[in-house]
Amino acid sequence: MKVKDFMAEQEGYILRMPSLLFSIYNKIPKACVMTYGCQQNVSDSERMKGMLEKMGYEITEEAENADFVLFNTCAVRGHAEDRVLGNIGAMKKLKKINKNMIIAVCGCMAQQDIIIDKLKKSYPYVDIVFGTHVQYRLPEFLYKRLKGSPRIFENSQGDSIIENIPVHRDGTFKGWLPIMYGCNNFCSYCIVPYVRGRERSRHPDEILKEAKELIAKGYKDITLLGQNVNSYGAGCDFGINFAKLLRKINAIEGDFRIRFMTSHPKDCTTELLDAMRDCEKVSRHLHLPFQSGSNRILKLMNRKYTREDYLSLIKAAKERMPDISLTSDIIVGFPGETYEDFKETLSLVKEVEFSSLFTFIFSPRNGTPAAQMEDTVSREEKGKWFDELLKVQEEIGDKINDSLVGKTVRVLCDDYGRSQGKVAGHTNGTAVVEFDGDCSDLGKFITVKIERKSNVLEGTRIKE
Ligand code: SAH
Ligand code: SF4
Ligand code: F3S
Repeated sequence: MKVKDFMAEQEGYILRMPSLLFSIYNKIPKACVMTYGCQQNVSDSERMKGMLEKMGYEITEEAENADFVLFNTCAVRGHAEDRVLGNIGAMKKLKKINKNMIIAVCGCMAQQDIIIDKLKKSYPYVDIVFGTHVQYRLPEFLYKRLKGSPRIFENSQGDSIIENIPVHRDGTFKGWLPIMYGCNNFCSYCIVPYVRGRERSRHPDEILKEAKELIAKGYKDITLLGQNVNSYGAGCDFGINFAKLLRKINAIEGDFRIRFMTSHPKDCTTELLDAMRDCEKVSRHLHLPFQSGSNRILKLMNRKYTREDYLSLIKAAKERMPDISLTSDIIVGFPGETYEDFKETLSLVKEVEFSSLFTFIFSPRNGTPAAQMEDTVSREEKGKWFDELLKVQEEIGDKINDSLVGKTVRVLCDDYGRSQGKVAGHTNGTAVVEFDGDCSDLGKFITVKIERKSNVLEGTRIKE
């Protein structure tokens, strides 16, 4: 694996951009980045916004006023793709008004040849399409297109890590910190390994440097990101794994929280659970997708663990951290899944008692093995199972929230509440509590006593 320096690669283009932009727009041009998909994409977008600022663009949230619009896309389910294509289609009108507008598509959809062909043929107003491995070349692509190059389509792969990319962070106290990229697992339903490539871990020194920068800037909640964070360091000679990395970040001075996602059960070790228990800055939250409660389906999914393995991991986590919040991802209606299999998913949900769940109906993805498997259950039937699952989870979520009433908790105030004069904060787990406050509370840790539950948890401040 190679590590490349962003400025060494792109400086030539960045330096020539401001005068080129001024000659075309005669003002400071605006750039809008529209982000779809997971936190990895959110984090990638922050870096692309950083590059755009470095080139001389001003970042805007409104595509209508932008001179450059970038779609950072997600391919994980068919629905995600359709939504993006619809929104790209709406750009045709805007480009008619602003002839110098540049439209680009990147991210996981743009890595696929089939999508590139579609954009080439049916979306002639899209100027640049580039995949996940070449995102750092955004300055080069923009420069060349603005200089009159033909439409650019680039989805070549690579196994490098690019460091020192400038970052325009969306939040002021919650920050994303990518620690690894790609996925080696090839779950049979999933497109991610095809569009993100093989696992690549950042050097721990780079991660610690970025964590320290975030903390020095006042970030209070840092989420370590990767498709499979807990296999961090595998195959590298860093001499440290994910559990050890957590301990190192925890040792950085300051009052902040560490979160991480996503963990795969097959790489979730007792060493990691011990590290979570021992590190006071690591949140008491484990997002551990199990996908299905049926061993037969887990095997077809190529998940490499059984229901029993999963449950023993949960037991080990609860033994070490009785107050831990657990969350998970579930796929309903995998090809060949019967109602009997689905009932095993329901029983696992009841047994574990997750704080919340991310549930999806199976969506066939081009090029994945599951897309070739026979799928006989109707969409309508899957919808019924899905609703049944939601109902079971709603009761569990309610019960967990009830159990929090009366507790005194430290929350990070991170939002306004649902009514005037109220603010909201996250506990060390996943619960959200509303209490009296104003904008001066945002970004601060505040201790509150949870007093009652209406449709939200409501608390009052405790003097520290
Ligand atoms: N790397 C993470 C998340 C990947 S995508 C992990 O391994 O858990 C997020 C979630 O989308 C997955 O956990 C899965 O539940 C869901 N998902 C992925 N592919 C899907 C598909 N083809 N159809 C429906 N849901 C899917
Ligand atoms: Fe997809 Fe599986 Fe990799 Fe997660 S672990 S990204 S579900 S292949
Ligand atoms: Fe979607 Fe790509 Fe993330 S497919 S879920 S944006 S890694």
